[in-house]
Amino acid sequence: MSDVDRDLMKKLVSLCKRLGFVFQSGEIYGGLQSAWDYGPLGVELKKNIESSWWDFMVRTRSNVVGMDSAIITHPDVWKASGHLSHFHDPMVDCLKCRNRFRADHVEGNTCPDCGGKLTEPRDFGLMFRTQMGALEDASATVYMRPETCQSIFVNFRNICTATRQRLPFGIAQIGKAFRNEITARNFIFRSREFEQMEMEFFCAPEEARRWFEYWLDQRLAWYTQKLGICPENLRLRPHEVSELAHYASGCTDIEYRFPFTSDGWGELEGVADRTDFDLASHMRESGQDLAFIDQESGEGRMVPYVIETSGGLGRTFLAVLLDAYREEEIEGRTRVVLSLHSDLAPIKAAILPLSKKLSEHAAPIEEMLRPHFPVTFDVTGSIGKRYRRMDEAGTPYCITFDFDSLEDRSVTIRERDSLEQIRVPIDSLVERMTALLRDGWREGQT
Ligand code: GAP
Repeated sequence: MSDVDRDLMKKLVSLCKRLGFVFQSGEIYGGLQSAWDYGPLGVELKKNIESSWWDFMVRTRSNVVGMDSAIITHPDVWKASGHLSHFHDPMVDCLKCRNRFRADHVEGNTCPDCGGKLTEPRDFGLMFRTQMGALEDASATVYMRPETCQSIFVNFRNICTATRQRLPFGIAQIGKAFRNEITARNFIFRSREFEQMEMEFFCAPEEARRWFEYWLDQRLAWYTQKLGICPENLRLRPHEVSELAHYASGCTDIEYRFPFTSDGWGELEGVADRTDFDLASHMRESGQDLAFIDQESGEGRMVPYVIETSGGLGRTFLAVLLDAYREEEIEGRTRVVLSLHSDLAPIKAAILPLSKKLSEHAAPIEEMLRPHFPVTFDVTGSIGKRYRRMDEAGTPYCITFDFDSLEDRSVTIRERDSLEQIRVPIDSLVERMTALLRDGWREGQT
């Protein structure tokens, strides 16, 4: 990582803590490595990303339905999925500094950190295991899911029966996943507890290629059009055959220009052709028939192929913040701005009385706007300081109530990125703000 990139990550991590986006978990006890808590602004940003994904993938489509499954999963699910036999990495430990590395990430026989001698490779299971009930024997062992999609496959027949969907159709889910990652690092990029946004699209085998291309296009469009991520910071990377997961016949990653990765790019999401691997495996393991049959005609029996879109919520959150972070020099001062898309901004507008004396007069504006979108009311510090705080929080609009407002019953709306201002009558504020948030600064004024 270059000094500039290291500096950028340092500033972003510090901004996240200072403004309440992300805190290290258990900080007062020295922190739990690679576990993160989302603060008041962070949880709003995360929920906005989630609902953007859910609207785009589920609510606006008649051929995708949602579900929400348990985290603790029947152990046989992971036998059938191949996780119990495949989901481990060969690891080596340094006998001198005690650091641990993936064996395939180390060149030669010495420790990359201190040059010490390394142990022979040993297998390290990536699944989080726990006990269900009072007994602590092997029969009570259950697993916390390492991916959300297996519960989709396991519920395939239930969902077909309940919804009477016809092929092709998808099942989507957002939820927590757990992996005992060896090297959890780079802030929220790689953690042991994280959230996935996954959709499994079931189709006839001969249509799988076409749907793969379709979903790849759709997923890229979501990052650029709905989240406002700059297209130059995204790329598609088809997997080499040698790196495909055991279940996939093809996979393309959507990567973001994360500053801390060795080649400058890191995985945000994978779009994979999982063939009929999962349904066929669960049929074998459970002895149940999970083949699709058209419910109306009773015909068309087949085990469908699956195109999967699998993204990380935390990684998307981090990409959104990195993409939005800017520093500008204005009149000899550095202005830090998060140019977040207004759909994602945790706070949509801040109501700022110019002076404390105006607080009482400005307060009804907060009450008027709050039922429509999240707002904040800030009266502490100079108006310049308050603007800067809102710029750093990514708030697209500041509404200033000044002494003239008492006379002309109007307020000033300041836009975060252009710093342009317009004067608007208080009576039409809900309407004007709704248009600005929906259509953007330029179009929203016409
Ligand atoms: N069902 C397929 C699957 O789980 P994956 O590539 O292992 O595929 C999908 O994971 C996405 O989940 C990744 O693209 C990434 O965004 C996210 N992800 C995976 N491991 C992660 C971790 N340890 N921390 C944060 N996000 C992770």
